[in-house]
Amino acid sequence: MRVGQGGTGPGAHTRDGSAVELYEVTPAHGEDELIDAAIAPRSSILELGCGTGRITRPLLARGHQVVAVDESPEMVARVTETETVCSTIDELRLDRRFDVVLMMSFLVNVADDAERLRLLRTCAHHVRPGGSVVLQQEIARHAPAVLEDDRRKLVIADVEDLPGGAQAATLTHIVHGRSWSQRIVTKYLSEDELATQLAEAGLHRTGYLSPDRMWVRAQLS
Ligand SMILES: C[S@@+](CC[C@H](N)C(=O)[O-])C[C@H]1O[C@@H](n2cnc3c(N)ncnc32)[C@H](O)[C@@H]1O
Repeated sequence: MRVGQGGTGPGAHTRDGSAVELYEVTPAHGEDELIDAAIAPRSSILELGCGTGRITRPLLARGHQVVAVDESPEMVARVTETETVCSTIDELRLDRRFDVVLMMSFLVNVADDAERLRLLRTCAHHVRPGGSVVLQQEIARHAPAVLEDDRRKLVIADVEDLPGGAQAATLTHIVHGRSWSQRIVTKYLSEDELATQLAEAGLHRTGYLSPDRMWVRAQLS
């Protein structure tokens, strides 16, 4: 289990506390559409932290080629439609480069600066010159909340400010009477902080995929 993180609820959990069964029943929320609109048709994509393939499958359906990576064998086992690699992102070094390296799900907001740099170096290692690294980042600090629609409920609780600008929070997802809780630790990054770390990894930000700046595009420097 990663430091400061954990998960409870039915089924297997990953080292970062993500529940396999929760992601299995969670649909895409337009992420694939947004990514598809920002990249060339039939792109080769390296997806880092693919989980159960929630976004992998829609990207494949849109005609892209995806290599899906996750450190969790239980997650990777759910992705049967394309090539998968079971590896930590930090240690991944494939002998291939891709049109797009996708690292979503706020993985870039890992609280440990050294680990974030290792993740970004993996992104830089695998993107081809002229290709895009696409990151999904946190754009707001957490606050206690209950978000609900007719199918699912998300409770954000026990929000705690940690030294160094990081925050911990407990996210509880309730879907069809089943409940999963995950303690997350995230660090919100200012534009300058992210720019500095991208530069250390040999990347630079070239734009955003969305007006709210949640989706960042970076390229090799
Ligand atoms: C919150 S889940 C999201 C999965 C998927 N991106 C989605 O949106 O459905 C995060 C996934 O990233 C994986 N992950 C987190 N940190 C990782 C790391 N350093 N190396 C490899 N996988 C990692 C976890 O195992 C988990 O499956």
